[in-house]
Parts: sequence; structure tokens; C-alpha cells
Amino acid sequence: MGDAAPCGDGDAAPTRAGGVRRVAVVGAGAAGLVTAKNLREEGLRAVVFEAAPQVGGTWDIANANSSMYTNLRTNLPDCVMEYPDFPFRAQQYGVPDSSFPSHTAVQHYLLDYAAAHDLMPLVRLNTAVQYAGPLPGGKWSLRTVSTLETSADVAQAQIEEFDALVVCNGHYTVPKMPSDTEIPGLSSFAGLLMHSHSYKSAHDLFRSERAGAQSAPKRVVLLGAGNSGIDIAIEIAQAFPAAEVVLSHRKCKGNASQAQLLTYGSGPKQVRLRERREIVRVDGTDWRTVHFADDVGAMQDVDAILLCTGYHYAFPFLSPEAGVDWQSEPGCVTPLYKHVFCIPRPSVAFVGLPWKVAPFPLFYFQSRWIAAVFSGRAVLPSQSEMHADREREQQLREGDMGLPRRYMHMLEQRQWEYNRVVADLAHVPPDAPVRRAIYADCAAARRHDPVAYRRRKYIPLGLHERDFRVLVDSNDVTPP
Ligand SMILES: Cc1cc2nc3c(=O)[nH]c(=O)nc-3n(C[C@H](O)[C@H](O)[C@H](O)COP(=O)(O)OP(=O)(O)OC[C@H]3O[C@@H](n4cnc5c(N)ncnc54)[C@H](O)[C@@H]3O)c2cc1C
Ligand SMILES: NC(=O)c1ccc[n+]([C@@H]2O[C@H](COP(=O)([O-])OP(=O)(O)OC[C@H]3O[C@@H](n4cnc5c(N)ncnc54)[C@H](OP(=O)(O)O)[C@@H]3O)[C@@H](O)[C@H]2O)c1
Repeated sequence: MGDAAPCGDGDAAPTRAGGVRRVAVVGAGAAGLVTAKNLREEGLRAVVFEAAPQVGGTWDIANANSSMYTNLRTNLPDCVMEYPDFPFRAQQYGVPDSSFPSHTAVQHYLLDYAAAHDLMPLVRLNTAVQYAGPLPGGKWSLRTVSTLETSADVAQAQIEEFDALVVCNGHYTVPKMPSDTEIPGLSSFAGLLMHSHSYKSAHDLFRSERAGAQSAPKRVVLLGAGNSGIDIAIEIAQAFPAAEVVLSHRKCKGNASQAQLLTYGSGPKQVRLRERREIVRVDGTDWRTVHFADDVGAMQDVDAILLCTGYHYAFPFLSPEAGVDWQSEPGCVTPLYKHVFCIPRPSVAFVGLPWKVAPFPLFYFQSRWIAAVFSGRAVLPSQSEMHADREREQQLREGDMGLPRRYMHMLEQRQWEYNRVVADLAHVPPDAPVRRAIYADCAAARRHDPVAYRRRKYIPLGLHERDFRVLVDSNDVTPP
């Protein structure tokens, strides 16, 4: 392909990324699989490089980099999670009464997707992309190595050329660890200190050597109240009902001088958590005293701190010449047009950067757009227009919405409009409004009770917003 001709300021010529024939895709998780399928449907040849021995990415718990834990169930209902072109129903995977199946069910769904679309011939398993960089004529050079080799033998590396590159390597594998500058004394904490990435189960955690065999913890602090913090805090509190489990986070609404008690669920599954502001310091003669940014007082004899502090974007294989900066500012991958195309070099595109979204539908629309642009069926605006769009977006986020810069790729409520715009740019039909409505109902139920919401079973009946039913234990609880 001819890479985009450089456009000067004010250049209104559309950016042509079409004419691509052969595309390298990095990663065969949920993003890479749907990308491969959509590229092929536009007549492009996709080669998908996957470092692991299996497709599925983080949903394959055997993948060394997976952040899944043993008892994890989805936090989105099956019918929201699904790719728009392949229904996902938990009951097909042995879960008849709930729409929130285990990670194993999702992995089976992804394997079924790959089989139904005959994607495996496009995937090179056990093959890691070590380097991807642009060549002078506009093509891309990739260096890959077999992950089956025991030593990194440079002689075994393969070099290949492609017309374009799609990055689908996920962003939940490189843990964000607060430094000792952010939380003085944290690295000296003498109890168990672990990031949620390494968490597998509450019992495994306290069976570890450092905590002593099978010792039940008395005090556990989880830092960060994203889905990992909340879900794992609940697991630990259910596994060790006598333990004091503290969920420490920046958005804690509790009184600054009172640790709020949260009670979720009912019956034997009921859990009680204490909510505190964020950890500010660790000290004490035994280095097990934790201080919080509230006036409630320090907590002593803490057995474990779980850092549920999220993850960094990382593209270690991407050459600096690609023109994408992902290292200068945490949470920011720039300069991209609508979170997808690298503006100065649109022959490289990203699937899945946005967060607080329903990932699979978003992957579907982004990859349909990429495939349409690479095949020439859709055209990007001029470079100056793409830069202007990015600046408007930045102004909206940081100015009008008051979001911190690290939230650059956070969409949340705006994901539906985003998917609609991307579908429009790809000239494909938009998503069904019923997905948005079920997502909103589930989010409200999760906020209300993060233990009980997974008892819900959603039944989509059509495409329109109100076309669904919700059952709990066979009772109809559909909102009016
Ligand atoms: C704990 C947890 C729970 C989640 N729960 C939900 C949920 O309930 N519902 C939901 O919709 N989403 C959930 N998600 C979000 C989840 O990340 C997405 O659903 C989706 O799986 C992401 O897919 P991906 O393909 O972008 O990334 P990944 O699944 O991470 O796949 C990336 C793939 O790229 C490969 N790779 C990386 N680098 C290279 C390289 N250099 N060369 C070759 N291959 C490479 C990796 O081996 C991996 O297979 C959860 C995430 C986590 C971490
Ligand atoms: N299926 C499930 O049940 C399930 C379970 C776990 C995870 N997940 C998914 O996995 C993905 C990752 O979730 P995650 O919860 O691991 O990451 P996350 O959503 O990025 O949340 C991390 C949280 O930690 C906070 N944080 C970071 N550094 C901090 C510090 N120094 N002090 C205090 N707080 C700090 C962040 O606050 P700021 O926002 O202020 O930066 C944020 O709220 C998401 O897609 C999530 O939905 C799903």
C-alpha cells in the first residue's frame, strides 16, 4: 500500500489508507479474532500472530498473561457482551438461570466464534511479535519469534513484510503498581502484597508461603475500587467471613471520620466490607500499619494489601518510527483518530483501547471500520481534520467534562454514540438499541448490589430499547 501522503496544515485532501492487501494482526484475543474475520470479509489477507498456545487472550486462564481468576464470572450479561454478529447465551454453556457465566464459558464462546468463521487457519499460535516498524515505502516490517523456543535465539526470528498493522494485544496485563513516592512505605509492607493481576482465589492467597499455610487473614485491604477491587473484596469477604475487609479508594463517599460499612447480598452469601479513603502510607515497627486519607485512624496488623490499581497500556514491540506515543503520559496513546488510527501513519490501527465499555461490540465496530478503510471502501478525512477532531475531543474531556488526562480512552456513557459514529464511518448498520438498555439496567443493578446482580437473567426479545425481560429466580423483575 502507499502510506498516507503527508498532509500539511489546512490540507483538506482525504487520507487514503486503502489499497492494503496483507495485514498483520498482533494478538488473537477477542479483539484479534473479530478483526481477522472482518478483514477477511473485506477481501484482505490477515495473518494473526498470537504468543500463546491458544486463542482467547485473557479469557484463556491457561494463558500466562491472563488476569482472570478461578471463580470469575462476567460482569456484563451474555447478550451485552456478545459480538453483534454472533449471539452469546450463557445457557448454551451450561448456565441456565443467569446471564453472567464463568470465564470458561466466554473462552468456549470465543473458540466457537473462531470455529464458526474458520479463523484458525489465519492464526499463528506460539508466535510473538518482537518488533513492528514502518519501512520507507510505506510497508511494515515484523520480526516474530516462536514462544516454544526455550531461549530467545535471534537466529530463529522471522522477518516479514505487511501492508498494514492492527494492534490487538490487550491492555490488562501490565500491572499499575503505586510507587513508594505515591505511597511511602508500600514496598516495605511486611504482609502479603499482591496486584490483582496475580490473584487467583481467596484460599490460594492465604495458602501462600508468606502468609503461612492455610492461615485465615484477620485484616485485608484492597486498594482501588474498579471491578477488580470490588469483585475480589467480595470474594475474600465471602471466603473469610470473620476477616475485616477494607475497600480503599479515591472516590469513597463515606464520612471522612467514619469507615462506612457496606452490606451486600443476602443469606449465606451476604458480605460486609469497610470502605475507606485511599492508602497514603505504610509504616509501623512490623511494617504492617496502613494509613488512609481519612480521619478514621490507622489500621494495624494488616495481613495483606491487594493492589487493584489497574493496568498500563504497553506496546513494547512497536518501533518509535510508527509515530505512536504510549509512554509519555500514563493512560494516553496518541495521536489517534477516534482511538483507532495513528493520524500521521494510518496504516497502523488499534482495536480495543477504550475502557468502561462493552468490549466485544466495540471491537466489532472498530474492526469493521479498519477493514473498510484498508480495503478502500471507506476513506479517512484529511490529516488536519483528524487532528482537529482529536483536539475537540480533548477539549471536551479535559475542559467541559473535567476528566483527568489519564482517562483519555474512557468512554462509559459515550460508548454508544461512539459505536454509532464508527459504524457510520464504516458504512455498516449500527448496533441494536436494546444492548444499551440492558447495559444500563445491569449497571444500575450492579451499583445497587454487586453480589446479587449476577442472579439476573436477561432475555432480549427484539432490537428496540424496551425489547427485553429480566428474571430473578424465575420472577419477572423487568423495569417498568
Ligand atoms: C479480570 C478481568 C475481567 C474481565 N471481565 C470482563 C467481562 O466480564 N466482560 C467483558 O466484556 N470484558 C471483561 N474484561 C475485559 C476483557 O479484557 C475484554 O473482554 C477482552 O477479552 C479483551 O480482549 P483483547 O483481545 O483486547 O485482549 P486480550 O484478551 O488481552 O488478548 C490479547 C492477546 O494478544 C496476545 N499478545 C500480546 N502481545 C503479543 C505479541 N507481542 N505478540 C503476539 N501476541 C501478543 C496475548 O497473548 C493475548 O492472547 C475483563 C478483563 C479482565 C482483566
Ligand atoms: N468480570 C468481572 O467481574 C471483572 C472483575 C475484575 C475486573 N474486570 C474488568 O477488568 C478490567 C480492569 O479492571 P480493574 O478494576 O483491574 O482496573 P480499573 O478499572 O482500571 O480500576 C483500577 C482502579 O484503581 C484506582 N487506582 C489506581 N491507582 C490508585 C492509587 N494509587 N490509589 C488509589 N486508587 C488507585 C483507579 O482510580 P482512578 O480511576 O482514579 O485512576 C481505578 O478506580 C475492567 O474491564 C473490568 O471491568 C471484570
